[in-house]
Formats: sequence, C-alpha cells, structure tokens
Amino acid sequence: MKRASLIITLLLASSVGLQAQVQKTFTIDATQPIAKVSPHMWGVFFEDINLGADGGIYAELIKNRSFEFTEPLMGWKKLGQAIPEGVLLVLNRAAENPNNPRFLRVNTQHITQEVGLQNEGFRGMGIKENLRYDFSVRYRQVKPGIKLHIELVDSTGRRIGKGEWQPEGGDSDWQKGKVSFTATATLAKAKCNIWFEGQGVIDLDMISLFPADTWKGRSGGLRADMVQMLADMKPGFIRFPGGCIVEGRDLANRFQWKHTVGPVEERKSIMNRWNTEFKHRPAPDYFQSFGLGFFEYFQLAEDIGAEPLPILNCGMACQFNSAELVPLTELDPYVQDALDLIEFANGDIRSKWGKLRADMGHPEPFHLKMIGVGNENWGPQYIERLEVFKKALNEKYPQIKIVASSGTGPDGDRFEFLDKELRRLRVDFIDEHYYRSPEWFLSNARRYDGYDRQGSKVFAGEYAGHPPQVADGPMENNWRAALAEAAFLTGLERNADVVQMASYAPLFAHVDGWQWAPDLIWVDNLHVYGTPSYQVQKLYSINKGTTVISMSEAGKPLAGKDGIYASATIDEKSSELIMKIVNHNDTSLRGQFKIKVKGGIAKDATHIILTAPSLDAVNTMEHADRVSPKTKIEKLQGKDLIANLEPYSFHVFKIKLK
Ligand code: AHR
Repeated sequence: MKRASLIITLLLASSVGLQAQVQKTFTIDATQPIAKVSPHMWGVFFEDINLGADGGIYAELIKNRSFEFTEPLMGWKKLGQAIPEGVLLVLNRAAENPNNPRFLRVNTQHITQEVGLQNEGFRGMGIKENLRYDFSVRYRQVKPGIKLHIELVDSTGRRIGKGEWQPEGGDSDWQKGKVSFTATATLAKAKCNIWFEGQGVIDLDMISLFPADTWKGRSGGLRADMVQMLADMKPGFIRFPGGCIVEGRDLANRFQWKHTVGPVEERKSIMNRWNTEFKHRPAPDYFQSFGLGFFEYFQLAEDIGAEPLPILNCGMACQFNSAELVPLTELDPYVQDALDLIEFANGDIRSKWGKLRADMGHPEPFHLKMIGVGNENWGPQYIERLEVFKKALNEKYPQIKIVASSGTGPDGDRFEFLDKELRRLRVDFIDEHYYRSPEWFLSNARRYDGYDRQGSKVFAGEYAGHPPQVADGPMENNWRAALAEAAFLTGLERNADVVQMASYAPLFAHVDGWQWAPDLIWVDNLHVYGTPSYQVQKLYSINKGTTVISMSEAGKPLAGKDGIYASATIDEKSSELIMKIVNHNDTSLRGQFKIKVKGGIAKDATHIILTAPSLDAVNTMEHADRVSPKTKIEKLQGKDLIANLEPYSFHVFKIKLK
C-alpha cells in the first residue's frame, strides 16, 4: 500500500472509530405492574377554529346558506346585467322565526333578463368527478312561475355539473325542495350558480349543497376523509366544542348547545369568535351554522368509539376578550343548561330533552360520563361559579365526572391558585393546557412524576409543541415539535395513574382558512393529511396498552438523560408488551432491551419507527407520508432485544407474551 493511501485508510478508520455507536442497556420489568392505563387515555380535541366545522368537517358546500351572516349576502354574488331594484331582496321575519329570521325573496315578475346568484363556497367548493351532489332549499312560492337551474362552474365559467328544480305548491307554508346531479370533473375551487328562470315570486332559505360521499352516507353529514383520520386514531374521547369558542368573545357570543340541536333550519347561527380574534389572520366570513351541533358531536363520538366530553360555558366570557361575568344570582340558566345536556345525552325518551334526542333519531342514550365546566377560565370568580355547577351536578348526577379548568398555562400564579382550589374541591379532572416550545416539552418529561397520586386526576386537554422561528402555518408542524411531544408523552404514559386523558390541540386546519397553527391535521377542499404530531398521537393511541410497567436504565426512569425518553406498558387484552422510546440525539444508538417477564415471550418483535429527513421536516398535501411510520421485524435473543435507534427517532416495539 502506498504511503498516501495508508494515511487515508487510517484516517477513515479513526473517524469511524470516533463515531462508534453509543450502546445503552434498558431494563423492562413486566413482572411488576405500576398503574392502569385509562381506556380513554388518548383522545381528540375538536373546536370550530381554522374552518374546522363550517368549511371543514361539516360537508356543507354553500357558505351563508341562510343569509344570517352580519352582511346577509356575504359569500353570494348577484349574476346578471343591470338587475333592477327589488328583484333580489333579503327579508327578515324575526317575529315568525327568531332563530333563522332572514330569507331571500326573488321577484322576477317584471323582468325578462337573466338573473341569478353565485355562491363562492368556503374558499371554493371541492367537487369530485362522478360524485352525486344533493342540492336542497327551503322555499315558499309567493307567485309560482320561477324554476331554478343549478350549476357548478370553474373560474372560467365552465360547467362541471348541473341540475334543474321546479318548485311545487302554493305560498302557505315553507317546504323543502331538492334535486341531485352528478359532477363531470374534479375541482378544488368550484362555485355554485343558481339561475332563476321564468316570472314569479319565490322565497328561499337554507340553500344547501352536499356531496353524497359523507361519513356513513348521512345526508347533510360530515366529510368522510376527515372523520376517517379521527377514527384511525381510535381515540378514547372527543372533547367538543372547544376551546375558546365555548366562552365567546362576550356572553352573547358564547356557545349554547340548545341552539345547536333540533332541525337544522331552526338552529341559531352566530359569528365564530375566531372571525376577528387575530388581526393578522382575519376571517370576516367565519360563522357557525351549527349544522354540526351537539347531536352530531355525540353521534360522531359514538361512531368513532370515543367517550363524549362536552365543555360548557360556566357564566364567563373569554377573559382575554370582554371577560364578562354572569352574576352568581343569574347563574341558574347556565347550570340548567348543563343538567339538561345530561338529560339530552342520557335521559329517558319521555323526558323533555331525551325526547328531542329520540326525535332526532337516537332513542338510545349516548352514555355521557363526563362534562367540562368552563374552558381556560381562571381566578376566584371561576372557582365561585364552578362550585355552584359542581353542587348541582353532583346532587342530580353523582356519577357524572367533572372536568375543571386550570387556566391557560401549566405554571405561574394563576395555575398554582387554581390547581390548589380544584384539588380542595376534589374535582375529578383538572384540565391543563400547554402550548410551549419543543424544549419545554423535552425538559418537562418528568412533570407528573411528583404529582399527588390520590386526588384529582389530570386531563392534559390542550397541548402542542410550538417551534420558534418557523413561518406561521403548516411549516410549524415539523418533526422537531412532534419528536419533543413524543418524548413528553412518555412521561404522561409513565404517570398514567395521574394523567388519565390527553389531547393535542387544535385538531383541524384548512390551508386557506386557518387562524392558529400548529394543528394536528391539515385539509384543503379535497384532501387531508396528518402532521408528524398526528403520527405521534396516533402511535400512542393505537398502542396504549392497559398497564404501565417499569422501563429504566440503571434503575432510573428514562426521562431525558442522554437524550433518551421511554415508557412501557402491557396490553392484557392482546397479551403484548409495548415499549416506546425516543432517541433525541444526532447520533444513532444501539439499544439492548432486557425484558423481565414471568412467562414466555415471542421470538420476534414488531418495530415501528417514526423518523424524518431532518428536524425541520414536515408533511404536506403533496408529501403526506414524508414523516410516517415504517415497520420491521426484529429477532429477540432469548428475552433480550437489540435494536438500532436512528438519530432523532421515535420507536414503538410490540412483543407477544405467552
Ligand atoms: O386550541 C386553540 C385555543 O387555545 C383554544 O381555543 C383555547 O382553549 C386555547 O387558548
């Protein structure tokens, strides 16, 4: 060998030597159960933010279908040349129908030119080729003679679907008309034209267009692709309807469940509080139609096998906004709403609210087991109101668990005060929220190790890693944040006797209509993808196990030392050992897992690996699977497993026990 090549060979050898793989030995003791994992441990948090409901999971394609937006024709455009005054009018019948007062009167008696209306949808309408679309409208013929032509068009006016509807009957009562047609092309941002042919007068309201491919094919239902993303997580619970939306900017704008049930045309729309919340992300056309109301939330929970967890207003508007308070002397209607909700969910069908549930198509109870009183409320004024709710709820429904707010953050005076008070009141669950940097999540993996094991349990109700110095929006959902969340969640699992429910927040965001990021799942009008954080949440949820066992290194829990975070459970139902481990290092690691079990153990382990090309990596509509789990099989050596843990990676190992 020449001298030069010898030197190169030696240099290479020494650099390989310098990077020699770190080796670690972990002990997993399945002979000593530590705590039970709640069957509802990992859930989802739903809020109508970022076009989560209207324009999102609620599959309605027409925006402002009942003309109740502050500007009654927002989302609508008049079609036709020089339409004379009085042809298209918005009327208000507040006395006859206070919940849905406005409607459109079309009067073509004295004109001969073409006239119509165009609806722009929610940032356009997602239309699929060969799919059926169901148009419907509530109407009253004042003077018969008008026929409707409905068409879906692209931005050039090219038609990609059309229907024709001839109203019937006289002017006495409002009735429903409908027509279905099939789209001839796929388009993400179509619009819907409605042309009025002939001479007459007709009143129109609840102008609606739904795709046929809704979740479970329900008419007027939910977007199947979005619900499927939730179902795939097998969530233990679904918290709804928020979030700050529960509180409202002021009390008039708070979420009132009774306005969201019964026939859709009788539900009372309000402005969505996220409409004006962020000056840099204005959404003036964001309202709540409540087509997705409390009945549908309960139904969704049932469909995806999740416990329903409604959160109700406690007589306080958002303390970041108006901070309005209901005097204690006037709190009764709020408390009554909570009691009535339990009757709506669980009550006998002969009771007032149980009957409404039955009339809506669900005579069986929804088996509601818990209820949240207030979202992100704080201060002594919250405690005073909570006590009134708690007394009434405990008296009438002692079996219903109460979830209470610990404010907006996981530390500081506000949190300390509330945590102490809530424990004094022995509430069942304390709802903790943390939107923090990835570093916070890493350094808080031991947060719950020292918590009181006897008193109130923790509901980690809203959390997300917010990486700094990243452009606002989908790019914030990077692997750096998701990996830190994965590390932190080992601490929740290790403390499953204390933390009994956990949900990332917010859940959905529309790429063209979001206010808040990061989010778990991003959608456009036709597609949906899970972020790296979604993959992490899902891996935890579908691999949760039933009993926590110890996983340690030299007798110490794996909670950040040398960048390693881990937890382990046993699933008694499937007889499996499940280990989760994060390698938060820029080098790979050779892990030796020494497993102590009473009985036998399989020869193979399923090894699920979640990693990414870089810490800044994100999933996108085009690359939805860039950060997604890969699975391989590892051979065990007796009761030992040896596996490679790549730099910055999250792993789930599953081994059958005999
Ligand atoms: O998840 C977004 C918002 O964050 C929720 O509405 C609120 O509870 C929290 O401040």
